[in-house]
Parts: sequence; structure tokens; C-alpha cells
Amino acid sequence: MAKNDRAHFGSKLGVILASAGSAVGLGNIWRFPYETGNHGGAAFILIYLGCVVLLGLPIMIAEFLIGRHSRANTARAFQILAPSTQWRWVGRMGVLAGLLILSYYSVVAGWTLEYITEAVTNGFAGKSPADFIASFQSFSSNPWKPIFWLIIFLLATHYIIVRGVEKGIEKSSKIMMPMLFIIILILVACSVTLPGAEKGIEFLLKPDFSKVDGSVFLGAMGQAFFSLSLGMGCLCTYASYFGKDTNLTKTALSVGVIDTLVAILAGFIIFPAAFSVGIQPDAGPSLIFITLPNVFQQAFSGMPVLAYLFSVMFYVLLAVAALTSTISLHEVVTAYLHEEFHLTRGKAARLVTGCCIFFGIFCSLSLGVTKEYTLFGLSMFDLFDFTTAKIMLPLGGMCISIFTGWHLNKSIVWEEISNNGSLKTPFYKLLIFILKFIAPIAIAFIFIHELGLL
Ligand code: PFF
Repeated sequence: MAKNDRAHFGSKLGVILASAGSAVGLGNIWRFPYETGNHGGAAFILIYLGCVVLLGLPIMIAEFLIGRHSRANTARAFQILAPSTQWRWVGRMGVLAGLLILSYYSVVAGWTLEYITEAVTNGFAGKSPADFIASFQSFSSNPWKPIFWLIIFLLATHYIIVRGVEKGIEKSSKIMMPMLFIIILILVACSVTLPGAEKGIEFLLKPDFSKVDGSVFLGAMGQAFFSLSLGMGCLCTYASYFGKDTNLTKTALSVGVIDTLVAILAGFIIFPAAFSVGIQPDAGPSLIFITLPNVFQQAFSGMPVLAYLFSVMFYVLLAVAALTSTISLHEVVTAYLHEEFHLTRGKAARLVTGCCIFFGIFCSLSLGVTKEYTLFGLSMFDLFDFTTAKIMLPLGGMCISIFTGWHLNKSIVWEEISNNGSLKTPFYKLLIFILKFIAPIAIAFIFIHELGLL
């Protein structure tokens, strides 16, 4: 495809909302609260903020400038910027990571649709805590239902992708992101006004540094990468659709602020509600599917209408957040197949959706009927999660920062950051220093720790 024909976002707001849509997802509303719950509340949040500013934003800017300069899918981008070198494998690894993450992420995204149906039909009313555990276990191990929702979720993602960058991704983000903010604000307002909510607010605002150890730092860094969609060229692909006048630093800042704000506000929905009914919110991954429906029923026990609305809105919020992330994952792989193998966009998208349904079915079954079949002691779902989030993303992030800090011609970096000299670049030197030294060393640290070598 000629450079000039390349699809692009139509507005600056579209650029920010689509990129923020990729970042805001299950990572913010599901993973961030339970990580915060497990790691001592406010102290974890402060360290997380440090990781976002010091590592997340510089790497996001690096992904943006690689994508916009090359105006190509993430695999081709490295080939264009470093021809005939092995750097092209960084982009290819990103595409593979996108395919694998989309396959298992859509399984959990599909669960949100079951929970919306359950909430809409008032299925949570009158259930005991034990009932919530039993119904989650029977649902997630059922061979058919989760697969049905997985397929529906992937088809919804597919529908947006085939409409293209401007009419599909940008337009849907402009509808879904404001909807997400409105739902979040309503839910926060309800949650913080519950009787006894103060303890949850205190947990989020008063740091307890006695709980801080090495694992908290490492957990916060890993969370920052996953949550900001870094390390696999996702934002690099989106940046290839940015206009020449997009301010990359400002866009990264906006995406970082929106993503962090949504994560913290999700904490303000979950913790005050949980503390108000005396439930400790450190339940781990099952927090939003087992603990929370129970919390909502108890917290609004005298007000069944509020309990109903709160539950419906919460799971709609989760599904919308997941959808804006799955479209970004799908786009990484679709753009690659479309541009590298000269398939039409529709054909490329069908291939990606088909592959993800195929892998997704195995991931879903691996939590139920095929639980006994494991590799390295992990089910297929856990294996996909482990290899992508714990190996491929940190490795990709490290390679991207080394590539931009050491290999890439600095005139390209400066040209992209300053929009050819038209913007001031007060942080340019600091950015290069972080990309050269701080980020690669810090990520190497997470990586080694996650693999249990430290
Ligand atoms: N950032 C998304 C979330 O927080 O749920 C997950 C994600 C999307 C990770 C896209 C990586 C990615 F490329």
C-alpha cells in the first residue's frame, strides 16, 4: 500500500480516545484492584504511579515514534528503521503476542457478557456467597457457554475492525470511551456514599509502607506494562495511523493520565463497596466475578433497584473496556497480515478472528473439561497468559527501549518528538537517558524476577 493511501485517524480526540481505549481494559478494572488489594493499597498505587511516569511514558513515546515514522505495521516498522538486522524479530514477536493475548483475553471478556446477562435478568438477587462461588465455577468449567460468549465477543471485535481505522476503531472509541467515563463516575458516586465506605477510601489514600518489599515494585512495573498496552507494538501500530501534526509526548501523557485515572477510579468503585460490607478485597483474579457480585448484593441489600443497576452497569463497563482493548490487539495482527501478505483487510481480519476463536476455545476448555492436560504444569489459558504478559511483553518493552535509545538514529527520534522542530522538547535528553539505561535495566529486573531467577 502506498504511504499516502494509508488509513489514518481523523481527529486528535480520536487519536487519544482510541489509544486510551487500548490501554483501558480488564487490566485496569480487574487486575489493578486485586494487585492493589494484595500489595497494601495506597503504597502500591504510589509506586505504580512512579513506574508509569518513569518507565511507561518513555516507552510509550518510543512506540509512538517508531510507528509514526515508519507508517507501517509493527513488524514492517522495525524492518524499515533497521533494514537487514535482527530487530525485525521484535515486531514479529509483538504480532504473535497480540494473537496469543487476544485469544485468552477474549475468554475473560466473554465472561463479562454472561455476567451482564445474569445481572440484567436479576440473577444475582438472593444469592449467598457460596452460591456465587459455585455459579462461577460451574460457568467457567461449562464446555459450551463460555465458548459461545467468547465467539460473540470476537465477532463484535471483528465487526469494528472490518469497518476500518476511522469508521471502525475511531468511531467506536468515541462512543465507548465517554460511555465508560460516565458509568465509572456514577458507580464511584454510589460506592463512596455507602455507609462504612470511609475505610475503603482510607485504604486507597493512606500509604502503609510496612507492606512494601521488592515484589511490590516488580508487581507495579508489570502491571504498568500490561495496563498501558506496552511491549508488543500495539501503540506502535496505532501511531502508524497518527497525523504528522500529532504531538506524541502530549498524546502519551493523556493516555497515561486516562489509564491511571480509570484504574484508580475502579479502586474507588470496588474498595469502598467491599469495605462497607466487611470483605477484604484481596481475593485475587476471582475478585470481580465472585467477590464483587456478592459485595453489590450486600452493600445495597435494602435497595434492590440500586443493587440491580449497579451490577448491570459494572459488567457493561467491564465489557466496554475489554472491547476497546480487544480491537487494538486485533488491529496489530490484522494490519500485519493485510500489509505483509497483501490480503484484503476483510480477509486478514477473518483469519485473525478464526485463529483467535480456535485458540480461545482451547484456552476456555483448559479451565474446565481439559483441565488435566497441562504443559509445564500450566493449563493452556495460564500458559498463554504467562508467556505473553510475563515473558513477551517485558522482553518486547526492553527491546523497544534499547532499540530507540541505542540503535535508532537520534535525528529520527528528535524529528518525531519535536514534529520536525515545531514543538519544544524540554525532556528530550531525559527521555533518551531513560530509554538507554533506566528502562532496560528495570525491565531486565522484572523479567528475571518473574521467571523466578531472583
Ligand atoms: N491494556 C489492556 C488492559 O489493561 O486490559 C490489555 C492490553 C491491550 C495489553 C493491548 C496489551 C495490548 F497490546
